Amino acid sequence: MIDHDVIIVGGGLAGSRAALEIVRQNPSLNVGLIAKTHPIRSHSVAAQGGIAAVLKNADPTDTWEAHAFDTVKGSDYLADQDAVEILTREAPDVVYDLEHMGVLFSRFPDGRVAQRAFGGHSHNRTCYAADKTGHAILHELICNLLAKGVTVYDEWYVTRLILEEGQAKGIVMYHLLDGQLAVVRAKAVMFATGGYGRVYNTTSNDYASTGDGLAMTAIAGLPLEDMEFVQFHPTGLYPVGVLISEAVRGEGAYLINSEGRRFMEDYAPSRMELAPRDITSRAITREIRAGRGIHPDGTAGGPFVYLDLRHMGKDKIMSRVPFCWEEAHRLVGVDAVHEPMPVRPTVHYSMGGIPVNTDGQVRSSAEDLVEGFFAAGEAACVSVHGANRLGSNSLLECVVYGRRTGAAIARYIQTRKLPDLNEAHYLTETTSQLETLLNQDGAYRIGQIRQQYQDTMTQYCGVFRSEEVMREGVAKLKELQKLYAQVRLDDKGTTWNTEIVEALELRSLMVVGEVILTSALNRKESRGSHSREDYPDRDDAAFLKHTLAYYSPAGLDLAYMPVNIGMFQPQERKY
Ligand code: FUM
Repeated sequence: MIDHDVIIVGGGLAGSRAALEIVRQNPSLNVGLIAKTHPIRSHSVAAQGGIAAVLKNADPTDTWEAHAFDTVKGSDYLADQDAVEILTREAPDVVYDLEHMGVLFSRFPDGRVAQRAFGGHSHNRTCYAADKTGHAILHELICNLLAKGVTVYDEWYVTRLILEEGQAKGIVMYHLLDGQLAVVRAKAVMFATGGYGRVYNTTSNDYASTGDGLAMTAIAGLPLEDMEFVQFHPTGLYPVGVLISEAVRGEGAYLINSEGRRFMEDYAPSRMELAPRDITSRAITREIRAGRGIHPDGTAGGPFVYLDLRHMGKDKIMSRVPFCWEEAHRLVGVDAVHEPMPVRPTVHYSMGGIPVNTDGQVRSSAEDLVEGFFAAGEAACVSVHGANRLGSNSLLECVVYGRRTGAAIARYIQTRKLPDLNEAHYLTETTSQLETLLNQDGAYRIGQIRQQYQDTMTQYCGVFRSEEVMREGVAKLKELQKLYAQVRLDDKGTTWNTEIVEALELRSLMVVGEVILTSALNRKESRGSHSREDYPDRDDAAFLKHTLAYYSPAGLDLAYMPVNIGMFQPQERKY
């Protein structure tokens, strides 16, 4: 058995910031960080547009209160306002800390960190490193935590959370390199496992974003919060779905329909292309449904709209958003200096996740906490984004709540000892689970079932939802889940057996998909990204509350938890 004071699952921004904080607080602590890819290939590396913080470099009139209000309004008033206050007040400090670590932010000519406009933010407060901000931050964090002696296990896939009598005691992990299994025991376990974009068929997310941490938490009997709120980023590059950053619109690009009109004036006249993502994604979907989308041959009635950068000019495009230019050029052959890019909404972010308090400790119910278990970043729901996240608030959440959770863990374990656990039991159980997978003589390849599952989620729980459609979706998911026992693995070996990992990831997708769809079915209102055609209005009287969904193979149980309202009373949301 491997022992650590703290074990962190996930090598992205939240996990690596937490690891760094723990060893900063107490350099003698023995911290292990497990990543299913190499940590610098975690999905945080793909974050493009920036990180919000009131530095006042572009706009001296900005305030943390304005940032907090924009975030709460953007969330359609479902965000917990105590958590938002922490997020926005601590933002400048975490950004300066990153800068001091060595992160290469873009600069204004006078040398101060540059800040740009972003959707739903009333001031220009998004700090950035061109359109590769996640890359710049993650590399620096990983270098820093390696220098401080954190042990990194890369290419290890965690198969289960060990939770006994309401206490997290460790995890079981599988080494992709050689098939070795290991039990890791710790005084505290933290999940920073990111999102689940691959539950859908078109996403900006990495192939590794399969919701494993969420599924393991749910399988352990703990709740997932607000999973019905799935963020569609308005500008996924058509047809591949990769991210074309909101920074492109922040720097001045237009959204154009088949009639050549900037249609956002019909949906959010005061914010236009910089309306929040839920509103912009619905607007694009409505334009496409109304026949004002565009076909690849340029005629009307097609599946995408145009993102037009041409008026920005080559110098601005190449200095501010060079990676987005490169993506369009490399993937769909569009030179955005001279031609508009084809875009449509793509699944991007999970507002929901593992419920935590503002110290990152996981909740087992509205009232109770789990001993020894913490979470932060996209995998967690603290909840600063409520029903709809503003762009550039997610890197911020990872760093603010990664740091806070790391500090909380360093304090928490001062009075904890390593738990007792039966290593042999967990090794036998996992060996048998993997052997069952390897030996089952099924009729289906993993990819066949995964594709059908992703198509079902996309068709039955997309930008717009309704009771009838979602009920049909749940029935289809149930049928597909039955096929899991009929998956056939061709690779029976132990060396770099990616098929085993894909089979385990498919299990995660299936659990997470069912939680999303069932939570969505039960929220009979429209709020933020959850847009019900049969309940088009927000219903604060019945639904100003968080969903807590408890998974079991027999079906889900739902409970609800109050929203923390502080400075800002819910109002009608207009842009
Ligand atoms: O559009 C973007 O660059 C994405 C930013 C975000 O999701 O925060």
